[in-house]
Amino acid sequence: MSDFAERLIHWQQQHGRHALPWQDTQDPYRIWLSEIMLQQTQVDTVIPYYARFLERFPDLASLAGAAVDEVMTHWSGLGYYARARNLHRAAQAIVESHGGHFPRTAAEIATLPGIGRSTAAAIAAFAFGERAAILDGNVKRVLTRLFGVEGFPGEKRVETQLWALAESLLPTRELGRYTQAQMDLGATLCTRSKPACMRCPFADDCVARRDGRVGELPTPRPK
Ligand code: ADE
Repeated sequence: MSDFAERLIHWQQQHGRHALPWQDTQDPYRIWLSEIMLQQTQVDTVIPYYARFLERFPDLASLAGAAVDEVMTHWSGLGYYARARNLHRAAQAIVESHGGHFPRTAAEIATLPGIGRSTAAAIAAFAFGERAAILDGNVKRVLTRLFGVEGFPGEKRVETQLWALAESLLPTRELGRYTQAQMDLGATLCTRSKPACMRCPFADDCVARRDGRVGELPTPRPK
């Protein structure tokens, strides 16, 4: 589908999520914090934690210089506490190895504690407009359905195929909006159960829908 990105961006402008607190910044520190909080936590829950965290730790230097206990206190209630420990460690690594400047490429960002390939790409796309593909759970669901990709996406072979597909679909501009659009489509329409195909801009292109297999893709983990 040669016009996937263009159509997705168009849909995002009309129907995507706007005015989220981390969308009005290009500060990689703030974007990074939001992406880590959003990894395992819903948007509505994250919003007040994000605000309080930034009030106490407004920049990388304040986070790196804080005691780990205080970082944990501000994370308390969000769960998955390894995220907070890695956040603190990564802030210290950026101060020590990058002179306190947030690294500017997805490849460098991905070397930091707690940041995988997809999160690094999202940060680089949002903060720097880098042409880097994301592949989180939402995007895996969208791609397996739309293109009829078979096999459990946690399996290496399938994951490699999905990364290649995600890269082949990247636009050459508006990478931030495109990245947000993919997340929004997966989170608001192409949901795990009861997807809203009636409102999906790609319903007529969707292999899973054509074949009546929306409920079967992505393929579940083999038992
Ligand atoms: N989940 C992960 N990243 C997100 C973002 N930038 N906006 C909304 N939900 C997200």
